[in-house]
Amino acid sequence: MSKTKIKYICSNCGYETLKWLGKCPSCNEWNTFSEELVEERKGRRIKKKETVISKLSDISQEEDQRIKTGIDEFDRVLGGGLMPGSVTLLGGDPGIGKSTLVIQAAAKIQNTVLYVTGEESVKQINIRAKRLGLESENLLLLAETDLTIIKDAIKKNDPFVVIIDSIQTVYDPDLDNSPGTITQIRESTAELLQLAKGTNCAIIIIGHVTKDGFIAGPKVLEHIVDTVLQFEGEKNYSYRILRAQKNRFGSTNEIGVFDMRDDGLHEVKNPSEIFIGEREKEISGSIITSSIEGTRPVLLEVQALVTPSHFGNPQRVATGFDYRRLSILLAVLEKRAALRLSSSNVFLNMAGGIKIEEPAIDLAVCCAIASSLKNISASPGFVVVGEVGLGGEVRSVSHIEKRIQEAEKLGFEQIILPKSNLKSVSIKNKIKIHSVENILEAIQLTIGE
Ligand code: TYD
Ligand code: MG
Repeated sequence: MSKTKIKYICSNCGYETLKWLGKCPSCNEWNTFSEELVEERKGRRIKKKETVISKLSDISQEEDQRIKTGIDEFDRVLGGGLMPGSVTLLGGDPGIGKSTLVIQAAAKIQNTVLYVTGEESVKQINIRAKRLGLESENLLLLAETDLTIIKDAIKKNDPFVVIIDSIQTVYDPDLDNSPGTITQIRESTAELLQLAKGTNCAIIIIGHVTKDGFIAGPKVLEHIVDTVLQFEGEKNYSYRILRAQKNRFGSTNEIGVFDMRDDGLHEVKNPSEIFIGEREKEISGSIITSSIEGTRPVLLEVQALVTPSHFGNPQRVATGFDYRRLSILLAVLEKRAALRLSSSNVFLNMAGGIKIEEPAIDLAVCCAIASSLKNISASPGFVVVGEVGLGGEVRSVSHIEKRIQEAEKLGFEQIILPKSNLKSVSIKNKIKIHSVENILEAIQLTIGE
């Protein structure tokens, strides 16, 4: 027996209420509630099973062999390949290249792959595969959105990897809700997870990001799936970055960098070269810094543009950098370096469309802003790293040796780094090292003021 009820479900976190609300009490988002039919089925999920308790020492310690996607950048972000019996959610804006990435991986995987598409026809997929020059004997295509048929196909063909493109199109006919609703997405994902655990196949689920920048129901799905990957990039750049937001089988720090060309996605083995490749050398407001992305150091260009503001409220815009962090650094520069920024517009950009959260690039941001404000270009041979504290002091950063090596490898002559990092630096480096204690010293070194 089942009873159907109308409920309101938050599309961001899955919070359920009986009344429509403007603001979600759980995640504080506005206007996220939508009406859904919720069937209250008794005993649907609770099946009587025999309890199995195992001794920790009796469980095999061998890790299942990972399934390599054959794309190194993809495998590294996954933590070494797909784990059998796991579910990976691949999210990203429409048109960013999710289907392209998975079809390229699917053609390279050495075992049977079932590609389930609800968005394109089998013919369209074939045309794309041909255009990308992909050929595979192991790739099975299925154009289907009905979950029961998909499940049957998985059981019948016993693939190593299943791709669901996309979860928004899949529906469970047992539920009354239409495809794409939170209930459908959540229930279908949960069923796919059970199937993955039962059959030991690896499932990749593609999910579109809603216009607010969320994968529909991200909080709900994040708990269900094993790995959450995000494929991102700016519309105007051809670079795409794959990162892990959650990974049960690996680190969440690694990034994979790709270049989208006419013939598909190409791996970018040395990201530093692309991020600093288009730099205008003698221009104010541009500073090269070194960020650690996972295990790799990546050099990138911090660009600042400071202009006088003629109105009361100066503008502050940060692209690829945390806005609040920028406000803090502006306050530090104003107070500790006596730079007059309160009446200036400040625009900050990480060139190449990359997003950086690491505080180790603070000092480069400060130097770039100072350089633009004074309109003095910094010497192009410099790389600047260091975290900045509220007192204007420069604090130590991690992996200093890797950053130095990368700067040296790409032909930079001088590096500015925190004094407290100096003890962990061996003297073998050819690059000239300047150690600084505060932002004033760094600004002096880069622009001579
Ligand atoms: P797609 O993989 O369909 O995106 P998603 O599945 O994330 O919606 O990629 C679509 C975009 O990528 C489209 O704008 C065209 C572009 N593209 C290329 O530039 N080169 C290619 O080889 C392919 C297949 C797509
Ligand atoms: Mg697609």
